[in-house]
Amino acid sequence: MSEETNIPEETAAAPQPEWRNFYGRRAGKTLRPSQKVYLGEDLDTLTPQGFSREENPERDVVDPATIFGNDAPFWLEVGFGGGEHMVHMAATYPGINILGCEPFINGVAMLLGKIRAAGVENVAVWPGDARDVMDVLPEGSVAKAFLNYPDPWPKRRHHRRRFVTQDHLVPLYRCLAPGAEFRVATDIPDYMRQALREVPKAGFELIAHSGTAWEDWISTRYEQKALREGRVPDYATFRKP
Ligand SMILES: C[S@@+](CC[C@H](N)C(=O)[O-])C[C@H]1O[C@@H](n2cnc3c(N)ncnc32)[C@H](O)[C@@H]1O
Repeated sequence: MSEETNIPEETAAAPQPEWRNFYGRRAGKTLRPSQKVYLGEDLDTLTPQGFSREENPERDVVDPATIFGNDAPFWLEVGFGGGEHMVHMAATYPGINILGCEPFINGVAMLLGKIRAAGVENVAVWPGDARDVMDVLPEGSVAKAFLNYPDPWPKRRHHRRRFVTQDHLVPLYRCLAPGAEFRVATDIPDYMRQALREVPKAGFELIAHSGTAWEDWISTRYEQKALREGRVPDYATFRKP
């Protein structure tokens, strides 16, 4: 048990290849008893097999039908935070499967609570880095991808840690199906500038960029925080040709 967070060690320290750094937070404040129950009872069932290096050291391709138990199209959400967007999308589109990735275990616990409350079943959860998932998904398998309020890494020397760098975007491009959308929301103008420059370099085309959200958008925790603090949301839609 981690003293600082009161989170079981095996959950707090999700397996991470030593060759790949993750700079964000994996655990925060103490989990509520109910959240520990969600993690203990629900996470294993919702976590697909074959994403971790321990389970799949050869990085063999994982068949999405084994993730969800059916062949419905699936979407990928990178860094779902508290899970409000992911659960909203799962409830809005019951015919679509959604795979969410989030290394911050407190966020995972929040998502699990929301999944229980909404009763959605078309979801899978990877409590780790989206890069682990992109390693093993088949080429062209993801029908839509979301990057909502990614970690801003405001210092210039940290910009290379941002998700909108080629290290992340090239694998994402490979996983997306031709015609698939990649949506980016941020409140950091410099982040959007980097996205508008780097995402097309990975092969995507820009479809739309404005201060108006998508029709099926739900405002996330980080967007609410940005609005409270006077920052302005900005939304871009890219597409794999
Ligand atoms: C600023 S928060 C935004 C959370 C949520 N999308 C929202 O809008 O409220 C960014 C999240 O991305 C997660 N994250 C950062 N790098 C990631 C990666 N490589 N794979 C998956 N999630 C990542 C962080 O742990 C963090 O919870």
